Amino acid sequence: MNAPFRPNQQTRESFAAYLCDEDTVEIVRPVVADMGWQVDKVHKGGLRNAVQSLSITASPTILLVDLSESSDPINDINGLAEVCEPGTVVIAMGQVNDVRLFRDLVASGIHDYLLKPVFPEQVRDVLMHAQAMLNAPRHAEATGRTRHSVTAVIGTRGGAGASTVATSLAWLTGHAAKRSAALLDLDVHFGTGALQLDLEPGRGLIDAIDNPARIDGLFIERAMVRANDNLAILSAEAPVNQPLLSDGGTFFLLREEINAAFETTVIDLPRHMMITYPHMLQDVDSVVLVTELSLAAARDTIRLLASFKTTCPGSKVIIVANKVSPNNLEISRKDFEATIERPIDVLIPEDARLAVKAAKLGKCMADAGRGTKVSASFTKLMQSVLAAAAEDEDEDEVVKPSSGSTQKSSLLGKLTALPSLLPKKKTA
Ligand SMILES: Nc1ncnc2c1ncn2[C@@H]1O[C@H](COP(=O)(O)OP(=O)(O)OP(=O)(O)O)[C@@H](O)[C@H]1O
Ligand SMILES: [Mg+2]
Repeated sequence: MNAPFRPNQQTRESFAAYLCDEDTVEIVRPVVADMGWQVDKVHKGGLRNAVQSLSITASPTILLVDLSESSDPINDINGLAEVCEPGTVVIAMGQVNDVRLFRDLVASGIHDYLLKPVFPEQVRDVLMHAQAMLNAPRHAEATGRTRHSVTAVIGTRGGAGASTVATSLAWLTGHAAKRSAALLDLDVHFGTGALQLDLEPGRGLIDAIDNPARIDGLFIERAMVRANDNLAILSAEAPVNQPLLSDGGTFFLLREEINAAFETTVIDLPRHMMITYPHMLQDVDSVVLVTELSLAAARDTIRLLASFKTTCPGSKVIIVANKVSPNNLEISRKDFEATIERPIDVLIPEDARLAVKAAKLGKCMADAGRGTKVSASFTKLMQSVLAAAAEDEDEDEVVKPSSGSTQKSSLLGKLTALPSLLPKKKTA
């Protein structure tokens, strides 16, 4: 429904809303007036009413629709799609706070989803963004660009090396695979992506969080800091006394706009951000799970793998064991793999000297360590990520069903076996 804007659709209304309750109508009306649209286009009556009305009149370019009274929102949204003209930007709202619903709605072509009760600022932001999107059609859609790929990098434990891997992966994708790459560092307070590349993070990400309505292609172009011709980064060093005040929509929007501008996006996604904004994992081609070989990491790998089955069931999960040193392992590779019930895909050796060298040179590890074993591991990882993107392209439309609870419980059942993996009084 949110297909590209068609400039010669003058006969269509700019806006209409179909809302279920008086309170929401009262909140939306003044915002609509501020936007310069007709207040009487805010109708009482939700999704069903919208479908009925729009089956006999032209759909507006922006449509706000309340799903609260719908027992089967996805089915009803599909019904709405049949009566909407291409180019209609549909914003839904409802009372269900469920990432699966959000994901399914976005897959059905919904531009955004607002959780009720809604607030005037929220409604204004989303309407302004919809309007900005219509006024600035995406160049990529017009040119039929190649499909972008998105990879999220997550650490199983703090300090496992997720940011090191994310930065090196993004750099290598630009340098070796010659794909335009973006690094989105969502460690908003303590991110090190820019630092690793010897760059100042700039204000881009903070501005986006403070003012999401500004996010569009032009904003991305200005806000991202270039590391080289093939790599740009969006990151922040938010003041440590300032909590992160953002709904997940901002980050999702950023991801979308970055996707439109770059061939590859690597997201450094700290675990707490993944928990707060699980939809950041929606439709990623691959998740790179960076882990150490320890007891706690094995436990959390199991838990994270189980959670990916619901948050990103179609994504390829690539497990990277980092900082692996033969003399210093809490759990052997073999035991770790047996515990998590799957193989480690890439093993990156511990190389403290290289880590120091990279920091001193202001280069990421893959760059500073060319020709080393560490660099070879990063290359293997990049190839895996690119292969996942290519696979995804082949089966683009296929949505794999969630694998259900049997697997999950079997993996979690493994947790009980973890204590047996503690060092077996082996001499170090
Ligand atoms: N293979 C490696 N060999 C040696 N040191 C490494 C290796 N990988 C990462 N490091 C070092 O480990 C430290 C932590 O890495 P990094 O910041 O990437 O971890 P993280 O998982 O992102 O941490 P956080 O949980 O704080 O986000 C850094 O000092 C980095 O240089
Ligand atoms: Mg980090």
